Amino acid sequence: MHEQTGGEVVSRVSTRIRARVRTIRHEAERVLSVELVPADGDTLPRFTPGAHIDLHLPNGITRSYSLVNSPDDVDRYVIAILADANSRGGSRYVHEQLRCGAIVPIGAPRNNFALDEDAASTVLVAGGIGITPMLCMFRRLREKGRDVRLIYCARDRSQAAFLDELDTRRGDVHLHFDAEHDGRPFDLAAMLAQQAPGVHAYCCGPNPMLTAFEIACENAGVGNVHIERFAASAPLADAQQGSYTVELAKSGRRLAVPAGAALLDVLLEAGVEVDYSCREGLCGACETRVLGGCPDHRDAVLTQSDKAANTVMMICVSGAKSGTLVLDLA
Ligand code: FES
Repeated sequence: MHEQTGGEVVSRVSTRIRARVRTIRHEAERVLSVELVPADGDTLPRFTPGAHIDLHLPNGITRSYSLVNSPDDVDRYVIAILADANSRGGSRYVHEQLRCGAIVPIGAPRNNFALDEDAASTVLVAGGIGITPMLCMFRRLREKGRDVRLIYCARDRSQAAFLDELDTRRGDVHLHFDAEHDGRPFDLAAMLAQQAPGVHAYCCGPNPMLTAFEIACENAGVGNVHIERFAASAPLADAQQGSYTVELAKSGRRLAVPAGAALLDVLLEAGVEVDYSCREGLCGACETRVLGGCPDHRDAVLTQSDKAANTVMMICVSGAKSGTLVLDLA
C-alpha cells in the first residue's frame, strides 16, 4: 500500500514568500477560498498536483493548505479553508480576520500526496474539504486525457465547495450527498470493486472516511492506494513516552529528551534550527534525516517502507524506540 509520498527533503531553513491576498470567495457553507499572488515579483514557485503550502498567519499560527488551482498558474495560489468548529486559531483567523490586500508569508509548495499522472486509470475520492487537492489532480488528469473518475462526498450539497467548477455531464464526476441518501455514506466498497486492475485510488477527507477507504481498497485488492490526512489519526501523546538522548551529528551536541516531551520542543528550546509547520505529523515540514538509532514513527506522511527504512523521521510527533537517536542536525 502506498500512503502519502514522503520523499521530498525539506530545507532546514524555511523558505518564506511574501504573498498578498487578492481575493477571498465564499465557496460553500463555512468554506472560503483565498487567492494569493506574489507581493514581490511576478511569479510563485511551481508546484505539482497534490501539493500544499504553509500559511504563516499574523497571529503566529502556521497551517498547511492544499493548492486547488492549476499547476500551470505561475502567478497565483488558491487554497480553501473550512471553518473548523474546534479551530485553535488557524481557520478562525482566516474566516474572521483575514482581508483582501493583506500580506501573508507562505512557504514554498511541498508535495506529500503526489499524483501519478501516467496511471492508466485513476479514481479520486474526496470528502468535504478534501476536495482541494483532488480538484487540482482531477483537472490535470482530464487535461492529459487520462481515464479518471472523481467521487465527491459531503454531508450536504450546501457544504460542498467548488461545485460550480465540476461539470457532471461528462460522467466522470459523481457527487454524493449523505443528506440526499437518508444519511447513508457513499458505497466505497461497491465502487472500488468495479475498478480496472492497476487502478490508482486516492482519498482525502475526514479520518473515518480514510479508514473506510483503506479497508475497502484492501478488500477490493486495490494496491495503488494514496491517502492524505488533514487531521492526526490517533492521539499522539504516547508517541513521546520514555526518555532518550538525541545526538546532533553536525555539532556533536547531545540533548536529553525527557519522558513525555516532544523531540521538536527539545530541539527548539536548545536553539537548534529546524523547520516545522503543522506539529501533527501531517505536513512533512519537519522531516529530518536519521543517522543512527531507531525512531518511533507516529506521522501520517511517511510510507510504511519509509518508516521501515528509518532514514528519515518527522520530529514533531515521532520519538525513539532506542536509547539514542542520531539526527543530521547541527
Ligand atoms: S511539522 Fe508537520 S509533519 Fe512535523
